[in-house]
Amino acid sequence: MRMVDIIEKKRNGEELTQEEISFFVQGYTNGEIPDYQVSALMMAIYFNDMTERERADLTMAMVHSGDQIDLTQIEGIKVDKHSTGGVGDTTTLSLAAMVAACGVPVAKMSGRGLGHTGGTIDKLEAIEGFHVELSNDQFVKQVNDIKMAVIGQSGNLTPADKKLYALRDVTGTVSSIPLIASSIMSKKIAAGADAIVLDVKTGDGAFMKTLEDSEALARAMVKIGNNVGRKTMAIISDMSQPLGYAIGNALEVKEAIDTLKGQGPKDLEELCYTLGSQMIVLGGKANTLEEAKRMLEEAVANGKALEVFKKFIEAQGGDPTVVDDPTRLPQAKYKIEVASKHSGYISKMEADDIGIAAMLLGAGRATKESTIDLSVGLVLQKKVGDAIDIGETLVTIHTNNLDIENVIQKIYAHIEISEDKVEAPQLIKGIITE
Ligand code: URA
Ligand code: CA
Repeated sequence: MRMVDIIEKKRNGEELTQEEISFFVQGYTNGEIPDYQVSALMMAIYFNDMTERERADLTMAMVHSGDQIDLTQIEGIKVDKHSTGGVGDTTTLSLAAMVAACGVPVAKMSGRGLGHTGGTIDKLEAIEGFHVELSNDQFVKQVNDIKMAVIGQSGNLTPADKKLYALRDVTGTVSSIPLIASSIMSKKIAAGADAIVLDVKTGDGAFMKTLEDSEALARAMVKIGNNVGRKTMAIISDMSQPLGYAIGNALEVKEAIDTLKGQGPKDLEELCYTLGSQMIVLGGKANTLEEAKRMLEEAVANGKALEVFKKFIEAQGGDPTVVDDPTRLPQAKYKIEVASKHSGYISKMEADDIGIAAMLLGAGRATKESTIDLSVGLVLQKKVGDAIDIGETLVTIHTNNLDIENVIQKIYAHIEISEDKVEAPQLIKGIITE
């Protein structure tokens, strides 16, 4: 087989065979096929798309390019959740404990944050002593014992995806639906999921800015999952404004704990219940979404979800007393209130720019090498649709230094206040099951 023939075939709009797809994925991973040929193929795919069959084959070729996590020793159906990334998205922490309390095993591998979006692993490290590395045996045992474990990316999973993503990043071929969908799904499948619930974000702070693009990505991923034997569904959720109130690592852990106590922000709670109901049904612990939602509400009301979260922290070496006393989480030295300059209704809180403001404080990474300050961040005091008076606090900045003029400027520039009443945006924009 020759790479040039594969490139020409895709350039001419033809369908590649499974053998051809495996050939270029393996050859590229091994270093036998050069960047320039794979770049040309990625561009041909960008313009000529891939059929459903090609997308499924590309996904599985990437899964087979490296190790796969074996979760077969964990009892029950392993349902994974994936979010395409947002600002202030604390969902995983609360959701995992809620679902685990309802009997669905959560064996989760999570990532770190980059740019304006945060990562679950960084948030967990805000808990003193918490470690995100477990051996495979410890990981399996912990999930069997307490139904929940969250670890950082480990092992040599989907090396083909790592190389292809880095290449796409510098060749103008990131924003291709078949390439994004296969990239995300390959990682979930290699991490051992039996079933997958996707939270595809849409809006200003999301990877996909329009509802149309978000739906297309969601549909593509759901099709791939179902075509390779993993039950998969997606919800589309709003990311035009940050999720919840807190943006920053320790601040978001506190928000997750509040949510497990039934005292969290309404939008975060709604998202946890929506995703959690789907996970419980896919995990075979309830027959209907209504029944699953009742189970989740009960696990919060009777404290079981909070109890699982405590045990999870303890099992991974963290200080479980933060659950009862969140002031034991890292605290920033200063709390600066940013006051509204107008009276009216919040009409816009641009998620991406507010995420960048939190990053400038040190809550996020500008580059992969940046170090972060786990204690700092922003706490919104209002959300879109809320009324506000002039002089009332809009945002509280948690910071360790007072050189924050740029952060304050960004907050004022990207929060809009209108005189007319504004409706809060709908959080769940769609559900895609096939
Ligand atoms: N996120 C991924 O994991 N892969 C892509 O291709 C794009 C976003
Ligand atoms: Ca913006």
